[in-house]
Amino acid sequence: MRIFSGIQPSGAPHLGNYLGAIQSWVQSQNSEAFFCVVDLHSLTQEISPDDLRRQTLELTAALIACGIDPDVCTLFVQSHVPYHAQMNWLLECVASYGELTRMVAFKDKSSRQEAQRAGLLTYPVLMAADILLYKTESVPVGDDQKQHLELTREIAERFNNRYGQTFVVPEFSKPAVAARVMDLQEPSRKMSKSVSSPLGKLDIFDSAEDIEKKIKKAVTDTDGEVRYDWETKPGLSNLLDIFASFSGEPPSHVAERYERYGDLKTDLAQLVISSLEPIAQRYKALLGDPAELEKLMARGAEKAAAVSRPVYESAARAMGLS
Ligand code: TYM
Repeated sequence: MRIFSGIQPSGAPHLGNYLGAIQSWVQSQNSEAFFCVVDLHSLTQEISPDDLRRQTLELTAALIACGIDPDVCTLFVQSHVPYHAQMNWLLECVASYGELTRMVAFKDKSSRQEAQRAGLLTYPVLMAADILLYKTESVPVGDDQKQHLELTREIAERFNNRYGQTFVVPEFSKPAVAARVMDLQEPSRKMSKSVSSPLGKLDIFDSAEDIEKKIKKAVTDTDGEVRYDWETKPGLSNLLDIFASFSGEPPSHVAERYERYGDLKTDLAQLVISSLEPIAQRYKALLGDPAELEKLMARGAEKAAAVSRPVYESAARAMGLS
């Protein structure tokens, strides 16, 4: 099954990125899987050139440290393959202005930014280009990307109807638990790189002390009963989801073992620390050899270009570009 997914190099991955996406990428990786560090997407936000370059390399190392194996699947950087930007233009002439303004992520981000970049509006078209270039069948992402994926499907179908069968219409795929990891301080809002407070967001490379502190201080409720119930106990259910996602059992089973919030939090902190520690160690070792990382990125880009080039060319030809 052809799989494609991407992540922005806008800082260290947080628990939402890890449990909502990266963990399932690692589990599903095979020779037909493509994972992409989407540096072009990061240009829609304020970021210095040096930070973007460094974070792109760091995120590539982080993904490998998490278990993405460049010998098994294809791991590459979006801007290293020119067909993404080229396909983006073709699809901007298929998508409509109205459907882009209806995207929740656009409304949310543009309301927070003073000087709005046009790329913030057209962002989901570039995402559609990423996905459709690889004849992707399944896109493993967190719940927050569902609307973007629906738009991708819409664009693919419209293109196929207008210009002839060219694209595969991809399916959305999210993990069974932790598809939407919530902010530890504000469990009504998703954990996010840009919005969460320092205590609300747990990064995968946080120190053991910080992980413990953030989990201990996570907002729950005052009723005191350990029960998996998103309606009335979102803070606690979020912790149970995180626990279940690391331990591989259903969240309600985790809940049954605990009577007190404090005990659950203590064990969860230990579980998160022991699960993330080996990743942080591999990450440090990988960053010690940037030349090797550059080599891996070049190889990934070559593999990705070999697959995406013919798809780009057939789309361009179908539209009348000779
Ligand atoms: P990004 O970089 O914001 O997030 C990367 C992945 O992490 C997931 N995620 C979450 N999952 C659960 N809970 C959360 N709180 C949480 N926060 C983030 C996201 O759903 C995503 O899977 N537009 C995309 C990147 C992208 C892409 C693509 C994805 C560009 N092209 C093509 C798939 C296919 C984004 O900004 O993800």
